[in-house]
Amino acid sequence: QGDRDLANKQVLISAGGTREHFDPVRFIGNPATGKMGIAIAQAAVHRGARVTMVHGPMNVEMVETLSEVTLVSVTTAQQMSDAMLSLFPAANLTIMAAAVADVRPTAYHPEKLPKRSLPQQLDLETVPDIVAQLAQKKRPDQHLVGFAAQTGDILAPAWEKLQRKNLDAIVANPIDQPGAGFGSDTNQAILLDRHGKKQNISGCTKLQLAHHLLDFIDFSPITL
Ligand code: C5P
Repeated sequence: QGDRDLANKQVLISAGGTREHFDPVRFIGNPATGKMGIAIAQAAVHRGARVTMVHGPMNVEMVETLSEVTLVSVTTAQQMSDAMLSLFPAANLTIMAAAVADVRPTAYHPEKLPKRSLPQQLDLETVPDIVAQLAQKKRPDQHLVGFAAQTGDILAPAWEKLQRKNLDAIVANPIDQPGAGFGSDTNQAILLDRHGKKQNISGCTKLQLAHHLLDFIDFSPITL
């Protein structure tokens, strides 16, 4: 990868998972740790970009490894959505690496529920699709990348997501393989872009995958 090749670029990254609480201590969430988003932030800083990272709750020591990154800490998908939508217009490249909780409880109890009052069932609603909302606001000079964490076949669902969400590229991530996915320091992926360009990245560190991804993205303006 060319050093400082992102010198004039503003890169916006989402990282980690969101939490959808139904009382102050209980939530629906997922196992995302933020390691992939952090690796992308490190790679982008190394290549000279100005980087902002919107992140869900994550390990403080991991966040402290980041220098020169503007951090925006959020908890819920709605907060992540608000932050991403307001930061998006200034970004040349946006990479949505966060694992957004797909559903949230419809009710929130501001006081901790005693065990005897805990609901035996939760009413849920789907959270808004952040990356799809960003895609609707995307200018031709902006690039938008998503992730598709998959088990089993990864290629067909990732291609379907890229098209449905109107993304420029997607990282198809086989989370059921050893040394890939949530919490791991290593990963593997297939990178796909909207023109059908495809690159297989076999077992490597998340930082190496981040650099492969930044190499893969074609920064020329998109002609519609
Ligand atoms: O549909 P799925 O969750 O597999 O899509 C994954 C991609 O969409 C990721 O880039 C993720 O950050 C993004 N996403 C989102 N908002 C959601 C759900 C997923 O931006 N509510």
